[in-house]
Amino acid sequence: MVFDLDLIKKLYSELPAKVANARKLLNRPLTMAEKILYAHSFTPAARTYERGKDYVDFAPDRVAMQDATAQMALLQFDTCGRKQVAVPSTVHCDHLIQAKVGAKQDLDTAIDTNREVYDFLASISNKYGIGFWKPGAGIIHQVVLENYAFPGGMMIGTDSHTPNAGGLGMIAIGVGGADAVDVMAGLPWELKMPKLIGIKLTGKMSGWTSAKDVILKVAGILTVKGGTGAIVEYFGEGADSISCTGKATICNMGAEIGATCSLFAYDERMAGYLKATGREEVAALADGVREHLRPDTEVEATPAKYYDQVIEINLDELEPHVNGPFTPDLATPISKMAEAVAANGWPDAVEVALIGSCTNSSYEDISRSASIAAQAKTKGLKTSSEFTVTPGSELVRYTIEKDGYLNTFDEIGGVVLANACGPCIGQWARHMDDPSRKNTIVTSFNRNFAKRNDGLASTHAFVASPEIVTAYAIAGRLSFNPLKDKLINEKGEEVMLDEPKGFELPPRGFSVEDPGYQAPAEDGSGVQVVVSPESSRLQLLEPFPAWEGTDINNLRLLIKAKGKCTTDHISMAGPWLKFRGHLDNISNNMLIGAVNFFNGQTDSVKNQLTGEYGPVPATQRQYKAAGIGAVVVGDENYGEGSSREHAAMEPRHLGVRAIVVKSFARIHETNLKKQGMLALTFANKEDYDKVLEDDVIDIVGVTELAPGHQLTMVLKHQDGTQDKIKLNHTYNQQQIEWFKAGSALNLIRKQFAS
Ligand code: F3S
Repeated sequence: MVFDLDLIKKLYSELPAKVANARKLLNRPLTMAEKILYAHSFTPAARTYERGKDYVDFAPDRVAMQDATAQMALLQFDTCGRKQVAVPSTVHCDHLIQAKVGAKQDLDTAIDTNREVYDFLASISNKYGIGFWKPGAGIIHQVVLENYAFPGGMMIGTDSHTPNAGGLGMIAIGVGGADAVDVMAGLPWELKMPKLIGIKLTGKMSGWTSAKDVILKVAGILTVKGGTGAIVEYFGEGADSISCTGKATICNMGAEIGATCSLFAYDERMAGYLKATGREEVAALADGVREHLRPDTEVEATPAKYYDQVIEINLDELEPHVNGPFTPDLATPISKMAEAVAANGWPDAVEVALIGSCTNSSYEDISRSASIAAQAKTKGLKTSSEFTVTPGSELVRYTIEKDGYLNTFDEIGGVVLANACGPCIGQWARHMDDPSRKNTIVTSFNRNFAKRNDGLASTHAFVASPEIVTAYAIAGRLSFNPLKDKLINEKGEEVMLDEPKGFELPPRGFSVEDPGYQAPAEDGSGVQVVVSPESSRLQLLEPFPAWEGTDINNLRLLIKAKGKCTTDHISMAGPWLKFRGHLDNISNNMLIGAVNFFNGQTDSVKNQLTGEYGPVPATQRQYKAAGIGAVVVGDENYGEGSSREHAAMEPRHLGVRAIVVKSFARIHETNLKKQGMLALTFANKEDYDKVLEDDVIDIVGVTELAPGHQLTMVLKHQDGTQDKIKLNHTYNQQQIEWFKAGSALNLIRKQFAS
């Protein structure tokens, strides 16, 4: 058993009282999301929180990390002084495996190429009590669904499709690594109380329509921004008619509408999945608190009173959809596809059809797709496109091999890829005759932005259900509608594909020889974390120094950034991804995308020690070597974009002391505070103009730093004049302690040392 049954028992034993308390506080019936949220308040909920406005401290039940993001998260955790993680946590090796030839060979190559990263993740997991899923074990969200997700739970994961676990009734939210560190260290996790979107599902799906089509339709209605800051809660008799893994598919792709997460209520289908995956006890426990794992009946009866927005979808009428290209919210019903292909000039030939991924590789998906693939043989058809199959986990792969489905795919030329992200995240060595040629691929994945799958801007990527993708692999045409179009077989006869048939769960049960799990040591204190000092990809972190206890004087202006400065401008992705576990090496990308106000250029700033212009990171390294701190000045919404903590850690590592801007993006501001940096805003935004290129800067008032108290920035200009500027901050007392200690982690370390 890899899951923590005691944790679930404890949660369920406390759930009735916590839900009753929340109902009393809110004085009305509750949605399912509200029940879970209030039950996971870090300290017992004693007040109501306004949705979309109030920040709440939560206590998630578990943490999951994928290999690309786990590196920096665990390097940070390594410095916090805890002997074990505070909540059950897991690492999943899925993102670093490139699809090139086929499962076995690609996996062997990845193990070789990424050996030091895998060794590091395995050893640090072992040391701190973290479950480790080896390369080849499967994709994080599928493995979490099979092993850890449970109704009424709350988890965070360092991947944006973490909400997949909503298929098992869990509030599961994608976060950055720094947030994961907080939760693993036992700190509260802060989130703005989400708004609630209710989606009422009526009727029942049939024929070619599948769960994927629900979310493809929803994406068309809500668009890529429509779910921002909200939890999407599905309810109604239609919801209960969808399999557990189908629900997970819908929740997974809620990320494509910007939702915080998506959620289904506990039902028989979830109970069945729990039992099929070896968690009979969890199902029995959930049955005991069933009423608390569903919205109150009044909510389902009059949803408009309880959700911020309500959408209704009739599953009886829902058609299969194909979404894309280039955005997952451009939804076209299959009956309108031929028209849309002609009208938009989309390349009709489907060159590659790809099924699987964390979104769509359940037993149901595979068995239904295989029922289509099998018809190629029986009806004398051949595949017209390249066809790949990515199982989401070894449990699924082993079971579908045993049940003959992999053989069915093989017979129509399907290539089975490793149980990993592969082409979904661009880890795909696709062979193209001419990379500039407009071409079409169709996947059962979730994202289809330009270049996402194969790095080619010329590729038009569409997303659909795996059944429809398999039909496309046979027909080879995007304009093909399997519900009504005929195909010509080898004998020249007209044939139609029958609608897909499959099994929600394997009739003979799931089985697996080696699921790829490594349990952590009972006592990891003696485990050595393997990081070579020569490594270019990994570097153990040194704790940041504590505040010196004085005002911060004699600083230089590193850069006054002009206009948009996102986390990508501060810490670029692309080729820098391979250094995500090496703070010093990745710091060579610090602010190289930011535009210098004084010369309009990127990565070119004046070095005040030499008077010469040079790259931002190299200039800052010279200041650091000379023992001089620096200030970064920025414009509005500084640090918007992803939650990557590297954008805060790099300036901290290279000796920047304060970031002074017109306004911050919230997550980046928090990340800066966590890393012990001064994150300050101009009290008067026009003061941005007073900052000159050659200024020497003092930050005054730091010794009296207190919530609500302004600081002063003294700009000593080269002509001998001075400007004194008022600066605001949003540090609360706890965050001031982080600053004084040098970082939030330093403070935690102190606590564990005492
Ligand atoms: Fe991996 Fe793609 Fe899912 S990158 S986690 S398979 S969204």
